[in-house]
Amino acid sequence: MDAAAEQKYNFDVVRWFAVMAVVYVVVGALVGVYIASELAWPVLNFDSPYLTFGRLRPLHTNAVIFAFGGSVLMATAFYSVQRTCGVRLWSDKMAWFTFWGWNAIIVSAVVTLPLGLTSGKEYAELEWPIDIAIAVVWLSYSINFIMTIAIRKSSHIYVSNWFFLGMMIMITYLHVVNSLAVPVSLMKSYSLFSGVQDAMIQWWYGHNAVGFYLTGGFLGIMYYFVPKQANRPVFSYRLSVIHFWALMFGYVWLGAHHLQYTALPDWTGSLGAAVSLAMIIPSWGGAVNGMMTLSGAWDKLRTDYILRFLIMSLAFYAMSTFEGPVMSLKTVNALSHYTDWTVGHVHSGALGWVAMVGMGAIYHLMERCFHTTMWSAKLVNLHFWTATIGAVIYIIAMWVSGIMQGLMWRAYDEYGTLAYTFAESVEAMHPYYAMRAVGGAIFLLGAVIMLFNVLMTVKKASSEGTLQQARTAAASA
Ligand code: HEM
Ligand code: HEM
Repeated sequence: MDAAAEQKYNFDVVRWFAVMAVVYVVVGALVGVYIASELAWPVLNFDSPYLTFGRLRPLHTNAVIFAFGGSVLMATAFYSVQRTCGVRLWSDKMAWFTFWGWNAIIVSAVVTLPLGLTSGKEYAELEWPIDIAIAVVWLSYSINFIMTIAIRKSSHIYVSNWFFLGMMIMITYLHVVNSLAVPVSLMKSYSLFSGVQDAMIQWWYGHNAVGFYLTGGFLGIMYYFVPKQANRPVFSYRLSVIHFWALMFGYVWLGAHHLQYTALPDWTGSLGAAVSLAMIIPSWGGAVNGMMTLSGAWDKLRTDYILRFLIMSLAFYAMSTFEGPVMSLKTVNALSHYTDWTVGHVHSGALGWVAMVGMGAIYHLMERCFHTTMWSAKLVNLHFWTATIGAVIYIIAMWVSGIMQGLMWRAYDEYGTLAYTFAESVEAMHPYYAMRAVGGAIFLLGAVIMLFNVLMTVKKASSEGTLQQARTAAASA
């Protein structure tokens, strides 16, 4: 069975993407802990421009979103499209081009961002030559995926593939439009848009990156890996299709909720808030659909640690998709905007949902692609608890500091003047910044445990000879 699968499918590229994803989550979380510590103890800047928060912050976001998130999306999409379509990837060469190209882009980000070479657009900081490379590599990933679906053996296209497909099309479109710029030198360009149009394009991109990449793509993962790990069919296939179309039509209207009370026409913010509220329904429908896939088999959670990651991620998905719509309301946003509440919301989505579902899927992949079990199930469980506890500490610290910041900034004294100076609000944040750094360090510890377990599993597969046997049998078949 293993040999047959090994021969039929291209698992090599999946293995590489999976292992690199784990390396990148360690790097991304490490930079995250460092910048979190800088906010608590600014002396850690060491007066070096390369280590300042301003330069390392985009390194963190690029490492976790594009290096870790991208590698997870590429490993899982390439794995599940082959299994659900019953065919090998359309082009092995193109898949390797995607792997090496994506990693070369990551290396260029690691070099250029600390040097201060940036376009200054959030989540799209990389300069124009790298932007062109991203477009080419992303297209190679998407075309290979689409062509694999085109040559499929089954008549049906499973719902996870729809989510991946939606992400690929939208990200191509968003990346190209948002990156349109006039180059003035090899590493400097100016956006084609200016003023309020630039802001609108930026947040149309920014929110849809959340909606289609961090949510849509990771839902593709959820719809394939939750039923597989639970060994049960998805609770309601019809609900998953409704979830898909509602997200595709809804998310594109939300961007303006990042720009409440700005020069943007007021109605755009109201529209963004109204559609945001409506998104609670499909998001919760999807989360319930994933969780109910376990109905009648909840006991599996006691013994299956990989499943715990997947189910816990759905709880965080539900939480952050309730919190987001609430924050989009103008009255709430007046308090939450510019505060750490936003950062808390981001990380309940990022640590709780994106990282947990991604890690659960990688564990599942490791066992299937290396034809063995994880080196230590106990370490998977330990990782689960460190990730969960670390994420919860991080989120709570940011909720408290965010709401406190918001309240301090708007407090007046009896004479109608501001009750606190800005510096006082910064000082009040110190304990919560330290708490966030501790939560982040616990989360990082879990990621290091995962990396160790993954590397030991690779070693185990080679010493047991399982991978080699499957490969030899595949070659002689
Ligand atoms: C050890 C774990 C992590 C720590 C300690 C950490 C820490 C931080 C810090 C300190 C910031 C800057 C906040 C600010 O500007 O005030 C930040 C921003 C951000 N991080 Fe993380 N992070 C971690 C993991 C992750 C992961 C796994 C993801 C994504 C999958 C992620 C996504 C982001 C995003 C999107 C932002 C920008 C937030 C915004 O603009 O509001 N982080 N992180
Ligand atoms: C229905 C779902 C969601 C809605 C309506 C929503 C809404 C919002 C709102 C209103 C903000 C704050 C905007 C501001 O004041 O500047 C925000 C920020 C953010 N959200 Fe969500 N959210 C949702 C789900 C998620 C999920 C699942 C993630 C996953 C990681 C996520 C990631 C982010 C990020 C990265 C930001 C920070 C952007 C920045 O300022 O840099 N959101 N979201």
